[in-house]
Amino acid sequence: MMATTDELHLERMRRSVSELYERNRQRGHAAWCDREYDFVCPSHVTYPFQWFWDSCFHAIVLSHLDVARAESEIEGLLANQQPDGFIGHVTFWQREAFLDELATYAIAYRTPYLSDCIQPPLLAEAVAAVATRGRGVAYLREVLPAVRRYYDWLRDLRDPDRDGLIAVLQADETGLDHSPKFDAELGLSGDAEEDFTAAWHRVADEYAEVNRDPAGMFALDRFNVEDVMVNTIYAENLRVLGELLGQAGDPDGAEDFAARARRTTAALVAKCWDSTAGLFWDLAGHAERPLRTSTVTSLFPLLLADLDESIAARLAAQLEDPAAYGSPWPVPSVAMAEPSFMPGLAGADLVWRGATWVNTNWYLCRGLRRHGRPELARRIEDSTVELIERHGFREYYDTLTGEGHGAPDFGWSALILDLLEARTREESGHGTRR
Ligand code: GLC
Repeated sequence: MMATTDELHLERMRRSVSELYERNRQRGHAAWCDREYDFVCPSHVTYPFQWFWDSCFHAIVLSHLDVARAESEIEGLLANQQPDGFIGHVTFWQREAFLDELATYAIAYRTPYLSDCIQPPLLAEAVAAVATRGRGVAYLREVLPAVRRYYDWLRDLRDPDRDGLIAVLQADETGLDHSPKFDAELGLSGDAEEDFTAAWHRVADEYAEVNRDPAGMFALDRFNVEDVMVNTIYAENLRVLGELLGQAGDPDGAEDFAARARRTTAALVAKCWDSTAGLFWDLAGHAERPLRTSTVTSLFPLLLADLDESIAARLAAQLEDPAAYGSPWPVPSVAMAEPSFMPGLAGADLVWRGATWVNTNWYLCRGLRRHGRPELARRIEDSTVELIERHGFREYYDTLTGEGHGAPDFGWSALILDLLEARTREESGHGTRR
């Protein structure tokens, strides 16, 4: 039987992702915690350490190529989990080898080897992918206690107003470091990198004065944002963790997490949905002021299968609107009509100011399929494949010209493999996607 175009793309993509993940592989022994490590770094050129959400994405991709390595990726994340459940957003396993690189980062540390921040919490999704293509329930029984402690920490420490939405304390905790949706909050008006670094310090320096104690940081109300993307990922992962607990034989845990997921989704709709604009807004401060800049975050709840269909339809319409998110190389990280929109490179090291990223496409395409829009999902997937085939695995792409920018050999851009695997499987009639 002849291979379909999809199968040919898939084969080519599997080969180039395997090579990429060999180049970005970091292995060794860390004397500081006396452990072996084996993970894929985001980019061996600019990001040689283990980042939390990158690593979750890498584990999902690795689950298609080498499940043992996918397990190592998760093991690396859990290895230095703190007794209270917290997992830092970066583990600097081999920090001594990259001191020059480190000097360029603005990151808050818990120890010299661990950051003191979070990133979008997609650990449960990553574990689900690794379990499904690997050792199943036996694997789940090993890792779920730690995974559950992590989500309990988020609930206990990051939802001080107990509304079901977790809050971030710094912009970089969203993973969307320089998104213009935070400009006003941070007192920024332009695109000079020094201004962003200074703004980061204005927040972090005040936190240092309260010894980065979570309650003390929230009391300052300096940067306290209930971010829609972070909370969509949180809701989805609570749901997935509920399913995993069910599979592992814990029906009470399963029901608890399913209820927590429903509560977070309901809070997103009740508090963040703006039916006039047809967008979701992040909420800032104790007063929960909506941050009214249209960014890819505003569309994220499309991922949630239990989102009302009338809301999902409004979000999908944004993706097709050529003045908003229907760019030549979708999906822009900022709506094109926003004054702050920059299609590609936005000044030396500024990110998330309009360009197209593969991880957000990965989430949105899955959301579109869940809400009955496979043809739009396919269009975005195909254009993402083309971006990568033309320009390589770059950190992000110009949403108007497709040109690749930022870090080369960027690990999570390989998520396209997961999308291609899922649709090839689905279209050949083998099972449905998660
Ligand atoms: C940038 C991104 C962040 C990512 C990190 C490593 O800081 O904004 O989301 O985790 O790079 O790739």
